[in-house]
Amino acid sequence: MTDDELLELARKVRDQAHCPYSRFSVGAALIDENGRVHVGCNVENAAYSNVSCAEAGAIGAMVAGGGKRIVTIAVAGGNMGEKSRACTPCGGCRQRIDEFADENTRIIVKDDDENWHSYSMAELLPSSFHL
Ligand code: THU
Repeated sequence: MTDDELLELARKVRDQAHCPYSRFSVGAALIDENGRVHVGCNVENAAYSNVSCAEAGAIGAMVAGGGKRIVTIAVAGGNMGEKSRACTPCGGCRQRIDEFADENTRIIVKDDDENWHSYSMAELLPSSFHL
């Protein structure tokens, strides 16, 4: 699967987002160490703090499917109906990704003008917390 195909999957699942409160939809698609693809979208709740981020959904699917490491994760997000700049994972999701990342893991995003950005975990979360 190419980066473009993975990003396309993230964009596609973003359309499933349940985000009536923020109107900000996010999709995530990742490839695990077995080459399997897992996707997730954000799911909001009337009790606002119960939001589940797209990355959390994709990571949960990976773990449930037996995956252990994230090789590449693509994130696509933006305000509904507006052109969006590249949406990078929020702070909490950087920590979530880090749990399953290694030095080769890539986090890829693309804005609506099709400009690419590819990050390493160390770039997005330097000096990260580990037990
Ligand atoms: N959101 C994600 O799904 N992932 C992120 O990395 C950033 C934020 C969602 C949460 C909420 O539903 C909406 O985007 C606005 O914060």
